[in-house]
Amino acid sequence: MPTEILHIDASFPDRGALLRATAVLRAGGLVAFPTETVYGLGANALDAAAVARIFTAKGRPATNPVIVHVATIESARALTQTWPDTAQVLARRFWPGPLTMVLPKNERVPDIVTAGGPTLALRIPAHPVALELLETCELPLAAPSANRSSELSPTRGEHVLRSLADRIELLLDAGATTGGLESTVIDLTATPPRLLRPGLISLAEIQAIIGAVELGQHAPDAGQSLPSPGMLPRHYAPRTPLELAGGSARQRVAELCCLGRRVGWVSFIREETVPGAIHVELPADPIGCAAQLYAVLHELDGAGLEHIVVAAPPDTPEWLAIRDRLARAASGHVG
Ligand code: TXA
Ligand code: MG
Repeated sequence: MPTEILHIDASFPDRGALLRATAVLRAGGLVAFPTETVYGLGANALDAAAVARIFTAKGRPATNPVIVHVATIESARALTQTWPDTAQVLARRFWPGPLTMVLPKNERVPDIVTAGGPTLALRIPAHPVALELLETCELPLAAPSANRSSELSPTRGEHVLRSLADRIELLLDAGATTGGLESTVIDLTATPPRLLRPGLISLAEIQAIIGAVELGQHAPDAGQSLPSPGMLPRHYAPRTPLELAGGSARQRVAELCCLGRRVGWVSFIREETVPGAIHVELPADPIGCAAQLYAVLHELDGAGLEHIVVAAPPDTPEWLAIRDRLARAASGHVG
């Protein structure tokens, strides 16, 4: 099936394009659309067969539940069994925005959405195209990131097509997303609440509102599935081996170049170039860096390189989400 591509203004989405996407979604089809974090691969969350197509298109293991996007707090509550005060205050403060909350699901939500589990991940996205699509189609949309499973998330329409062309009915292409990193995921069914995935909304911002939050997740018992399988070590990875330099990235790059390897190098500070290496300098602030990180990794991944060496980002709380994604992208190639 050839993927239909509609270019759509990021601030003032065209109604015709939204109606076309609505028709595809209501017919059980798949629509990739921009959110303020990364592009999502959307299907009607109440249609088990449509959600099953997301898993097939991505090659996603059936054990990994997907996030459901809604337009209003009321629509979120309508899919949950309980709505604690913590959910209400966090929603009021951070929605629409890059915060995903895990809550007990109710019987309206098909099991495939939650990988058979009792909890559901929910968020209201802030991107005008995502929000207006949700309002127009009047459906909750299951939407994981619009990439093949375990690969880099897409921050531009062309990244979606590189990964999923001809596997989805429609792409709403609104250009680059602004946030660039996936949402923060917090499990409100745990006491105290647990941060399952660091993201653009920091732990400190959440703690300022609801108090204590635990970091990470309990190690699963043998044979049990992970509470947030997206936190598996290898995830968000380019196809080119990526290593996170423990010591001097420049020195590691120089070594590899001496061996005649084709090397890409990402740093967060100005560095003297190494002849032969492709060097990209990302912004030294975490927000600016997050906005560009995946696009840079996608570009280096398409450049026919043998190695991507990334300098270790600063070891401070504001860089937590970026350190997390880079550690996963390196998946054992830590230099
Ligand atoms: O920014 C984002 O969150 C993007 C955009 C499209 O909204 N979505 C996204 O979805 O990154 P996905 O499916 O690639 O990542 C969802 C994460 C995974 O780590 C998944 O395991 C976790 O959320 N998750 C989903 N449902 C869960 C649940 N019921 N309990 C615990 N973790 C869950
Ligand atoms: Mg993903």
